[in-house]
Amino acid sequence: MRHDHLITSKQLSRADIETVLDRAAEIADDPAAVADRHANAVLGLLFFEPSTRTKMSFETAMKRLGGSVVDMGSVESSSVKKGETLADTVRVIEGYADALVLRHPKQGAAAMASEFVDVPLLNAGDGAGHHPTQTMLDLYTIRENAGLDDLTIGIMGDLKYGRTVHSLAYALTNFDTRQHFISPESLQLPREVVYDLHQQDDTQIREHEALESVLSSLDVLYVTRIQRERFPDENEYQKVAGEYQIDLETLEEASDELTIMHPLPRVDEIAPEIDETEHAAYFEQAHNGVPVRMALLDLLLAGGEADE
Ligand code: NCD
Repeated sequence: MRHDHLITSKQLSRADIETVLDRAAEIADDPAAVADRHANAVLGLLFFEPSTRTKMSFETAMKRLGGSVVDMGSVESSSVKKGETLADTVRVIEGYADALVLRHPKQGAAAMASEFVDVPLLNAGDGAGHHPTQTMLDLYTIRENAGLDDLTIGIMGDLKYGRTVHSLAYALTNFDTRQHFISPESLQLPREVVYDLHQQDDTQIREHEALESVLSSLDVLYVTRIQRERFPDENEYQKVAGEYQIDLETLEEASDELTIMHPLPRVDEIAPEIDETEHAAYFEQAHNGVPVRMALLDLLLAGGEADE
């Protein structure tokens, strides 16, 4: 990888993605080999929105590479409360850390913040924009379970506000994929994303309101949470809440090989009875966050030396 910052999955080529996934697989096989690799490195965590998996897996990843973390903590307890701008906050923390991880409610925040710092900045979610490190662990999980070429994937739920969906859809255009987008009409993919996806040669995309019409053809079903916190109007949320729920009955028409994924947290999209089936890959997916983020940090902290 020859990138200073990781802001969107659009910046990644197939070779970049494969470099990260291959490195993650090596690390997962032999984590002890990298246990001291970044012994003096410090990772700065700036989370302006709630997070469990992303924050804790970044923290675990840095520690498993021998490094440590400094954490801004909650917005409530930080100088943001005193009116500090994001640009100032990142400029200060870059003096304490070798790389920064930023999650922020505003779309475009990571791109803006990255203009102010020289250390690598990783976007851990910018509003309804992008979430490229989640995409990397999603791709890793897809590669392990179904393979990334000749893939038929259904991406279902909140496609409008779901940043994991936007990042994943762009990244998959590097592979030979058929992408089916399943959502209520009001939560369809943003039109500019659909336009961009249509420009890609190896990608076929279709939009649907019902899962039934495509379920039997899918290798992977990627389910997402309706992003309640992004709705300008709670009534609009109530109209679509609970629209798509997967249970054993829903899966009657599915292939035995179907892999079900979810970036988590889930609310009611996937019934707990699915957890014990061979289809469920969402906890494995969350666990993959550690080796994948170790690989990303390793490549970015090493300044791209691991390329080629
Ligand atoms: C996602 C996010 O924050 O965008 N969570 C995550 O990072 N695994 C998905 C979500 O919140 O629904």
